[in-house]
This record gives sequence, structure tokens and C-alpha cells, in this order.
Amino acid sequence: MKIIKTAVIGSGTMGSGIAAQLCNADIPVILLDLTTEISEKAKKKIFESKPPLLINKSKIDNIKVGNIEENFGAIKEADWIIEAVVEQIDIKHNLYEKILKVRKKGSIISSNTSTIPLKVLSEKMSDGDKKDFCITHFFNPVRYMGLLEIVSENINDSKKTNLLKSFCEKNLGKGVILCKDTPGFIGNRVGVYAMQVAMTEAIKMKLNIEEADAIFGKPMGIPKTGVFRLYDLIALDLMNDVLKSFLKELPSSDVFHDVAKELPLVKDLIESGYTGRKGKGGFYKVNKKEGKKILEAINLDNREYFPSKKIDLNIESN
Ligand code: NAI
Repeated sequence: MKIIKTAVIGSGTMGSGIAAQLCNADIPVILLDLTTEISEKAKKKIFESKPPLLINKSKIDNIKVGNIEENFGAIKEADWIIEAVVEQIDIKHNLYEKILKVRKKGSIISSNTSTIPLKVLSEKMSDGDKKDFCITHFFNPVRYMGLLEIVSENINDSKKTNLLKSFCEKNLGKGVILCKDTPGFIGNRVGVYAMQVAMTEAIKMKLNIEEADAIFGKPMGIPKTGVFRLYDLIALDLMNDVLKSFLKELPSSDVFHDVAKELPLVKDLIESGYTGRKGKGGFYKVNKKEGKKILEAINLDNREYFPSKKIDLNIESN
């Protein structure tokens, strides 16, 4: 089999990023969401994204958009169907039921889940369908993050998994690692735990968020995004779902439980629409004053936003 046509369901942060990378590889893709209006908006965002998700903007029409009711027929044509909807198992299960009814025989279906185990995602599928279903866990922003985790089980058709691996390496430019079906796979099992430790310690030490971000970055040999800025990039609501999923899957003896309890501040931010960069802001937000954009940071104690300040850790770089 060859991967010639593709479909991405869910046109949020990740679905858009994946569709854009397929577009970059000159692979036609249909991007579906609950309404065409949502996927249209996503296409516009892809076009205008900074840093750009597209290598060549003139290729944008490799991406067609639609909704999961009227345009679901497009799934029949796809060789690879990628699910990138919200991290909620019932929604994903309902979607798989619909996809499996119409998909082309032998097509590959994958989920972009961050944490839900493959065996849970596929628990309602027949063995025949399980053979073609795996997890392709891309990282955000898709064009720029090299890593792609592919999670499969013994039941998977290994020829197909290898074909997908080589397609993602050659056509999408990814560094693919094949992972076992363990909670958070590899990247998130390590990365999310590290973020939670950093956040918990920052709060215990009464650091402000800029200080925490300055430390949990270059001095530790990791990107300068820091922890709170990374939270905003990933999105607070998604992190919330991810943590819940980890807590459900990991034994209560696992140290993850010590650092993953829901914080009242995070809950309140999500409820008031401060879900991070995709929302009104998060730990950081941009405020417009007298026509100027000012970056503000939240004070973890009193929850007020103040103009963000640069932190100099006074570390010599060599
Ligand atoms: P998002 O919240 O940005 O987008 C989700 C999209 O799914 C929305 O456009 C929503 O309208 C749509 N949707 C919801 N129910 C739907 C349905 N039944 N049919 C079609 N569309 C539906 O979410 P995001 O961040 O793109 O996450 C998507 C998946 O990727 C999740 O499983 C998440 O865990 C995973 N992921 C997210 C990463 C991130 O950094 N944001 C990184 C890696 C994985």
C-alpha cells in the first residue's frame, strides 16, 4: 500500500499542524472538525501562522476542509486517517466507530493522543481493525518538532507500522521512535513529570513565574520556553486532561501522583477562558495599552497580572 490521500479529524492545534506538514509534503489532506467554520478558521490560521507552519504558502490548497457530518465520505478515500480531537475517550471512541464503518479496507487509522493507552483507545475494535490502528504522537509545533512517537501492539500489522514509520521519516521529515504502550509513552512520561516537578517546586519556593521559567530552561539544557510558558503553549485545559489520564493509568505508588494534583489556580484560569496561547492567555497574557502590546505575567499569590520582567540569572555562557 501507499499513502497518497490523508484525512485529519480535529482542526485544533495539533490537527492543523499535522495537516500543514502533510501539505508541506505535497500530500492531499482533508481537515474535518465539528463544523466547517471551525476547520475554515484553522486553515486561515495555518496560512497566517508565525513561525510559519507552511514551507510554501502557495501549496495551501493541498488542504481541503469540511465537517464530520456532510464531508465524512472523504474518509473512504483516505489511506491514512489521523484523529486529533480533544483528549476525551468517549469522543474518540464514537469517532472510531464512525470511521471504521466507512474507511477503505486496509487504511491506517492513528490517534494523536498524548496519554491515552492504545489498548484503551482500541478496546471496542475488532482484531481486524486493531491491526490497522496505532498512535502517532506528534509534538507541537508539528513542523518544527522533530520527534514522532509511534505506538503499536503485537496485534498490529508490523509491515504497515514500518511503512508508516518510513513515510513519516522520508515525507514528513520526522525522527520516529517506536514506543511501547505505556502511560505517556516516552516523551510525555519524562517531560510532563519534569514539568510538574518544576511547577510544584516553583510554587513551594515562592518563585515568580519568570524566575521559574528562567531556571527551567537554558541552564538545564532544555528549550528556553520554561515551564509556565510551555504550559501556555500546550494549553492548560489539555494539560489538565493529560494529568487526569496519567493519574488514572499510573499505580498510586508512582511518584507522579505527588506532583500532578489539580491546582485551584489552574482550574479557575481554565474556567475563565485563560487556557493559554490558544485562549485569552494563561500564566502569561498580552495586554494592549495605548496601542502597545505588553506581555504580562501572573502573580501566583494574588493572581494579578503584572508587566513581565526579564530575569538575569547572572550565569556566564561559554
Ligand atoms: P484542541 O483543543 O486545540 O483541538 C481539538 C479539536 O477537536 C477542536 O477543534 C474541536 O472542535 C475538535 N473536536 C472535538 N470533538 C470533535 C469531534 N467529535 N469531531 C471532530 N472534531 C472534534 O486540541 P489539540 O491540542 O490539538 O489536541 C488534539 C489531540 O492531540 C489530543 O488528543 C491531545 O492530547 C493531543 N496532543 C496535543 C498536543 C499539544 O501540545 N496541544 C501535543 C501532542 C498531542
